[in-house]
Amino acid sequence: MAPSSRSSNSASSAESSNAVLHIQGGARLSGQAHVSGAKNSALVLLAGALLCPQDCRLRNVPSLLDIDRMMEILATLGVKVERDGTALVMNASHISQSKAPYELVSQLRASFFIIGPLLARLGIARVPLPGGCAIGARPVDLHVRGLQAMGANVQIDRGVVHAYIPGVRKRLQGARIYLDCPSVGATETLMMAATLAEGETILENAAQEPEVVDLANFCRAMGAKIRGAGTNTIVISGVPSLHTTDYAVIPDRIEAGTFLIAGAITHSDITVSPVVPEHLTAVIAKLRTVGATVLVEAPNRLRVIGADRYRATDLKTLPYPGFPTDMQAQFMSLLALSEGNSIVIENIFENRLRHVAELSRMGADIRVEGNTAIICGVPKLSGAPVVATDLRASAALVLAGLAAEGTTTLQGLQHLDRGYDNLEWKLKQLGADLRRIHGDAEPVLTYAPV
Ligand code: UD1
Repeated sequence: MAPSSRSSNSASSAESSNAVLHIQGGARLSGQAHVSGAKNSALVLLAGALLCPQDCRLRNVPSLLDIDRMMEILATLGVKVERDGTALVMNASHISQSKAPYELVSQLRASFFIIGPLLARLGIARVPLPGGCAIGARPVDLHVRGLQAMGANVQIDRGVVHAYIPGVRKRLQGARIYLDCPSVGATETLMMAATLAEGETILENAAQEPEVVDLANFCRAMGAKIRGAGTNTIVISGVPSLHTTDYAVIPDRIEAGTFLIAGAITHSDITVSPVVPEHLTAVIAKLRTVGATVLVEAPNRLRVIGADRYRATDLKTLPYPGFPTDMQAQFMSLLALSEGNSIVIENIFENRLRHVAELSRMGADIRVEGNTAIICGVPKLSGAPVVATDLRASAALVLAGLAAEGTTTLQGLQHLDRGYDNLEWKLKQLGADLRRIHGDAEPVLTYAPV
């Protein structure tokens, strides 16, 4: 049985950043990895709850620092938020604030996405710019231009985006919006804003990620009229208001993919569920190319059977259904141990190869040129002290540590705790040998089932 929430001793970012994860490599894994609800869906669905003036219940919400922060942001806006295990009940009947707090928004880019629903509900929204982040500049120009096309007045003043709907009717106007690139966040912001707009909005070159489809389904469950989500053209016919719903978040395809690689890199045989196998098509194809066996055992369950040796392959990250940028770092750990030369091209974010330096400390042979990593497979990695530079880099280093000879000590766990629900507890259940050590304290089992 999988745990449903983090224990309180790992709940803050400060505690996570003081802790170190010791990973003893070489253990074979077995059993079933339980996949939590999708972080990137849950975060935007929480923002979407602002659209609804009644109770909104979300199930299968993962227990993560990022979710805690998003709940805090909603609470500062006046939304009542209650957690009951993996379910959240939110009530945004009285939104008392139109301004989101900088301290929280700056820690979590997805919190910027509240600008769409907040503006649609209140006619005004003030949200600080989320700022840069470790993986790249990540601008919000597409969000802003889309809202302007829908009639909002949007200005940026001293780092805060001020948006309001001019006129007395306080409703956004449907518009035809072409996105310069299929941004996930911009598609989500504009789709949420358009649900309550007057008339029809057409989003062209929209993102097709499963999380976009999940948001569309959630909004539809609240009475929104949306079609085309999952294709590159989404059409939203605005309605005057939305209503209560009870909705379950989809499984996290990135967490599932991380477990598949954990099975492969440790030459193990494990199952991973619940999953939607189609959401992992690109990752499964690459795993099969390098030599792992991946079986769809049931409509919501995958099995990975590791090989003794893997062969090199090339990959480039692309918008869905291409290979996800959020799986690039983890896959690179496997390629570091695959025979031959692999080339990985990161097309989505400009600074998302920082894990290379840390993998190199473990004995990987990787050279970076611009957005390209050239990997010369080595027969083994060695445990070493390493530091996580961002969320998916932290997962990549855990995977490398599971496969390495000796002990890897991983710092920067605030990144891991941002986006993985009980990862180390789940890996321990599969037989991995890892312990979190807090400050000077003795090793403790950080996560426990509740
Ligand atoms: C979301 C995911 C993140 C994932 C990414 C790409 C969440 C909370 N995060 O991030 O895990 O890695 O999708 O799949 O869902 N861009 C602009 N202008 C904009 C918006 C984006 O130029 O206004 C650029 C970005 O800098 C980036 C690219 O578009 O180079 C893709 O970004 P985007 O799809 O928007 O990513 P996020 O929504 O931030």
